[in-house]
Amino acid sequence: MTDAKTPAARPANPRFSSGPCAKIPGFSYDLLVDAPLGRSHRAAVGKAKLKEAIDLTREILGVPADYRIGIVPGSDTGAVEMALWSLLGARPVEMLAWESFGEGWVTDVVKQLKLDATVRKAPYGEIVDFATVDFDKDVVFTWNGTTSGVRVPNGDKIPANRTGLTICDATSAAFAMDLPWDKLDVVTFSWQKVLGGEGAHGMLILSPRAVERLESHTPAWPLPKIFRMTKGGKLIEGIFQGETINTPSMMAVEDYLVALKWAKSVGGLKGLIARAEASAGAVAEFVAAHDWIENLAKDPATASTTSVCLRFTDPRITDGAAFAKAVAKRLEKEGVALDVGAYRDAPPGLRIWCGSTVETADVKALMPWIEWAFEAEIAAL
Ligand SMILES: Cc1ncc(COP(=O)(O)O)c(C=O)c1O
Repeated sequence: MTDAKTPAARPANPRFSSGPCAKIPGFSYDLLVDAPLGRSHRAAVGKAKLKEAIDLTREILGVPADYRIGIVPGSDTGAVEMALWSLLGARPVEMLAWESFGEGWVTDVVKQLKLDATVRKAPYGEIVDFATVDFDKDVVFTWNGTTSGVRVPNGDKIPANRTGLTICDATSAAFAMDLPWDKLDVVTFSWQKVLGGEGAHGMLILSPRAVERLESHTPAWPLPKIFRMTKGGKLIEGIFQGETINTPSMMAVEDYLVALKWAKSVGGLKGLIARAEASAGAVAEFVAAHDWIENLAKDPATASTTSVCLRFTDPRITDGAAFAKAVAKRLEKEGVALDVGAYRDAPPGLRIWCGSTVETADVKALMPWIEWAFEAEIAAL
C-alpha cells in the first residue's frame, strides 16, 4: 500500500453532519429578513407564514390534498410521540426497528405506553422483512435509519387495503426519497434534516384514516396539552392550517420557507432526490474502488442516499472504534469533514450526510481525504 498524498482540493463546505444538516447552498442570515419577529404568530402575518410553510410542504412533497399537515413542537421526536400517544392502543401494534431511533420508538411504546407490541428488530446494516409484518395491526417504523444508513427501498410490501395504521418516522428521508403516500398514514419529519432547517419544530402528516382514528379513539393514558389534536372528539383543524398549539419560532419558520423556496428552485422533489442520489453515488463509487471500506447496508437496495454509513474492513485494524474515531478526528482537524463519526450507538465507522443541501462536488472532494486519513491512521498503528 502506498502513502496517500495530501489531496489538492478541499470540499468548499465541510459540513456533512446528519442533523442539523448543512444549510442550503448560498445560505446567509440576510435571507431571513422577512421573518416577522416581535409579532404574534396569531397575527395575520404570522399565520400566513405558517400556512405558506404547510402549503409549500404539500406542493413539494406531493402530499395528497386530503392529508392534513401540521407544524408541531418538539422537532421530529415531538411529532412521532404526538402520533404514538394519540393514536395507539386501539388495535394490536407491531414495532419495527433496525437502528437507534427505531429502537427509541420501541421503548416509548413498550416501556412507557406499556403496550404488548410485537417487536421486530434487525441488526445494524439489515432491515426487517416487510413481508413478515401484519399490516392489519398498527405498524410503527422509520423510513430511513439515520444511524445505520439503511432505508425502506419502497412501499411495495405495504398493502393498500391494510386495516392498521402505518406510522412512519421519515425525518431523514422526506425531501430526499420518494414516500408512497397511499401506504403511509402518519409521516413525520423535522426541518433540521434534509432541507437544512432549524431544530425545534416537527411536521406531522396525517391520512384521512389517521384522522378517523383520532376522532374515534380515546387513549387510555393522559395526554398533555402539547399532544392534543382533538377537542370534543373532533380534530382541531386549525392546527393543520398554521394555528400551532403553542408558540413557534418565526425565525425558524422563515428559515424553513427559504429552504422550501430553494427546493423549488432546484426542481422540487425530483431535483432534491437527484441531488442526494448523486452524492450517495459518489460515495458508493469510492467504496467500490477500495477494499478497506464498505457500506454498512448489506443490501444495496436498502442503502440510504442521505445518511451514508461506512465501516472500515482492513484486517490490520484491531480496535475498530478507536480507528474510526481517529479518522473522523483527523478529517475534522484538517477542516475537510465535520461530524462524520458514526452515531454513538452504531457500529464504528463514518457517516457522511448526502442529503439534498449537500453539494455533490463537496462529497467528491471529500473522498480522497478519507483515503488520506485512512492511510495516515494505518501508518500510525
Ligand atoms: C430517524 C430519526 N428519528 C428521530 C430523530 C430525532 O429528531 P429530532 O431531533 O428532530 O427530534 C432523528 C434525528 O437524527 C432521526 O434521525
